[in-house]
Amino acid sequence: MQNERKLIIAIDGYASSGKSTLAKSLADSLGYVFIDTGAMYRGVAYFTVVNGLYTNDSIHEEALIKRLDEVHLMFGDPIVGNDRPLLLNGVNINDPIRSSEISALVSLVAVIPEVRTKLVDLQRQMGTNGGIVMDGRDIGSVVFPEAELKLFMTADVEKRAQRRQLELLAKGENVPLEEIKLNLESRDQIDSSRSESPLLKVSDAVEIDTSSLTFSEQVEQIIDLVKKVTFN
Ligand code: DC
Repeated sequence: MQNERKLIIAIDGYASSGKSTLAKSLADSLGYVFIDTGAMYRGVAYFTVVNGLYTNDSIHEEALIKRLDEVHLMFGDPIVGNDRPLLLNGVNINDPIRSSEISALVSLVAVIPEVRTKLVDLQRQMGTNGGIVMDGRDIGSVVFPEAELKLFMTADVEKRAQRRQLELLAKGENVPLEEIKLNLESRDQIDSSRSESPLLKVSDAVEIDTSSLTFSEQVEQIIDLVKKVTFN
């Protein structure tokens, strides 16, 4: 698609609502850069685990905050299509950050204000020139409140759990549906109720319910919105 302006497209929504797949496909069609901010929070959770800062079900928060300067996250060159691996201090951590262990821990890392400040700064730097599709929980509300197009994705928890189960199976992890549902519900609860940039639908976001639309319907609907904004 020929674009006059390079937009910032903010996509927020619940865990496993299909945000990343949609954002990636949208970025591909528009020739934009896709930025998965959830991966960045997962990257910090991974740093926490490999450095022994998560033991007996608790995060050593002060020690983690002191060591945040050692966390250098960036997205590497694409491996396939628009898929850019997350690098932690130069090492590809794309696969380990998707494990159930990291999924169980990441919301707790994401409530730490110092972690959020660091990642929000980095996300703003990544998006300064526009031409990006960024997905997360606080993109339209905090990272880019001035984004030209904001989407808020929802889907019922059953559908989201099924989607997540298939993703995990593809990676060889066979996790019961009920366990996945509990993880999603717990993450939704923590993400929506935290005091620091909670997940919320801002008033100028367009809501997309992915349980009632096919994937191509979702992409079509959003491309129409992009055209309206771009050529307005
Ligand atoms: O999108 P995801 O499920 O990979 O995100 C992992 C966690 O990171 C999620 O539970 C909440 C947190 N997160 C956040 O707090 N803010 C963002 N912008 C993105 C993710």
